[in-house]
Amino acid sequence: MGKQATIFLNFLSLLEICLAASPDLNSSTDEHSILAIKSHIITSYPNNILATNWSQGTSFCTWIGVTCSRRRPRVTALNLFNMSLEGTIAKEIGNLSFLTYLNIRNNTFNGVIPDEIGNLRRLRVLEMSFNQLSGEIPPSFEL
Ligand SMILES: *[C@@H]1O[C@H](CO)[C@@H](O)[C@H](O)[C@H]1NC(C)=O
Ligand SMILES: *[C@@H]1O[C@H](CO)[C@@H](O)[C@H](O)[C@H]1NC(C)=O
Ligand SMILES: *[C@@H]1O[C@H](CO)[C@@H](O)[C@H](O)[C@H]1NC(C)=O
Ligand SMILES: *[C@@H]1O[C@H](CO)[C@@H](O)[C@H](O)[C@H]1NC(C)=O
Ligand SMILES: *[C@@H]1O[C@H](CO)[C@@H](O)[C@H](O)[C@H]1NC(C)=O
Repeated sequence: MGKQATIFLNFLSLLEICLAASPDLNSSTDEHSILAIKSHIITSYPNNILATNWSQGTSFCTWIGVTCSRRRPRVTALNLFNMSLEGTIAKEIGNLSFLTYLNIRNNTFNGVIPDEIGNLRRLRVLEMSFNQLSGEIPPSFEL
């Protein structure tokens, strides 16, 4: 059974102003994080699309399911629903410090939800239902 875990987060804008990006994270660390996420996914459908589309040598901002900020090459959204992805969620996801939207609904992600997701201070939408995940939404998201 999929675990229902849909959370819409509304942070006070005042709070958001106070939350600067970690100074040691940049577009290179975003690429590293995305590749770590890819390496934890063992299959994708159709035709193992991530293996071919998420290829180094092209900007990760052009990869399927990846959206970057208009102003800089930082990942703001991951939209990976209905893709028959199987694997675990890499803890490096917690380094995508510009991420506001994460949707992995309806795949076969398994294992434990990494605590590092709790580091994503800009995250507003977290949709992980219809997977085989265990563990809990990090407490920092509780309203
Ligand atoms: C990005 O951050 C990493 C790790 O903190 C650092 O090693 C690297 O030099 C930085 N790259 C740029 C382009 O700032
Ligand atoms: C990945 O897919 C996107 C969207 O279909 C496409 O624009 C891009 O060129 C593809 N990149 C590669 C390396 O296949
Ligand atoms: C999940 O996605 C598959 C296609 O990948 C689709 O056939 C199925 O109906 C979807 N299920 C849900 C609950 O969205
Ligand atoms: C995912 O798959 C389900 C079932 O086929 C479908 O109802 C839903 O619209 C799909 N989601 C998107 C955003 O395409
Ligand atoms: C990213 O995340 C991993 C695991 O959470 C961590 O070990 C690493 O030091 C982080 N920082 C960078 C810049 O990749």
